[in-house]
Amino acid sequence: MTPDDFIPNQWYPIFDSSKLRRRKPVGVTRLGERLVLWRDSSGTAVCMADRCPHRAAELSLGWIRDDCLVCPFHGLRFDSAGHCVLIPANGEGQPVPRGFDLPTRQVREEHGLVWYWYGESAPAAEIPWFPEAPEPGSRTSFVQRDYPVSYLRVMENFGDMHHVPFVHRATIPGAGTRVEVQEARLDGDVIRMKVSLHHERSGWMRPDYNFTYAIRLPTLATIEVARGVRFVASATPIDRDHTWLWARYGQDYIPGWLGGGAITRLAAKFDLELVFTHQDMRMLASQQRNSPDDISSYHLFEADRAIALYFGLRKQAMDGVHSRVSSIKLRSAGAE
Ligand SMILES: [Fe+2]
Repeated sequence: MTPDDFIPNQWYPIFDSSKLRRRKPVGVTRLGERLVLWRDSSGTAVCMADRCPHRAAELSLGWIRDDCLVCPFHGLRFDSAGHCVLIPANGEGQPVPRGFDLPTRQVREEHGLVWYWYGESAPAAEIPWFPEAPEPGSRTSFVQRDYPVSYLRVMENFGDMHHVPFVHRATIPGAGTRVEVQEARLDGDVIRMKVSLHHERSGWMRPDYNFTYAIRLPTLATIEVARGVRFVASATPIDRDHTWLWARYGQDYIPGWLGGGAITRLAAKFDLELVFTHQDMRMLASQQRNSPDDISSYHLFEADRAIALYFGLRKQAMDGVHSRVSSIKLRSAGAE
């Protein structure tokens, strides 16, 4: 793992808040580090290294007692600030020697997610989000899954609608192959896109497909797939070559009391299991490269504009400079 694998000084979503229960710690690997998440007695999410300083067992296999995380191996207890407050083998009430404290990580909960600050600088005040993204509620549903592919491939996939008529011809039939980019702009640090897929020859049963979507650092995207139906997603790195994909779907049509939640859940499952896992992943896993962030072998064209903008923003953030975005050249039709 090199420090260059992930974009530094960013809030990353690392877990769905609804799955972080009181009394039960959970272990996850995010951004190359094994982490344990738990809630203290006030319900506040706590994040620490998932490794006991004693003999390196996973603390996420342990439990919570007296507002402390207990190591399952020898019962060492850690409070929410990471201080080791008890080594049972030394006896209750005995002072804990130095070196037993755990490094804690900055986390915050917003929009139904646990966010993790990755970087050396002080955490940014704002969580990166989209005002139009669905919030947790009776009409929304989330899905998640780990994939053996770099988060960058998933981010590219979020920016790419022109694979739909090929990769998804069986599940999302009828999309045209010609792309019209109607809008591609940077709104602050949000990439905002509007594209439509046209058929070469118009006709009955040959509708245009319109997509409005937005992408922002570090790993977020929201896509309106049909009017009033959209999802917000994060392709959070597990490590350099693995991604935790989380997505929350929402729709404006059917209220929760009419079964809107169940319908959204079905649609989300369909999209994750059938569309993404079986169709997109086949392509993403096949993309060949020396290292995940090396896109020098790509030849991009106009429909790839969102991808070029994302890599531009990413480079800017990695270099820590505010140069002009979009130095990546796009091949236009008829050009050399
Ligand atoms: Fe796809």
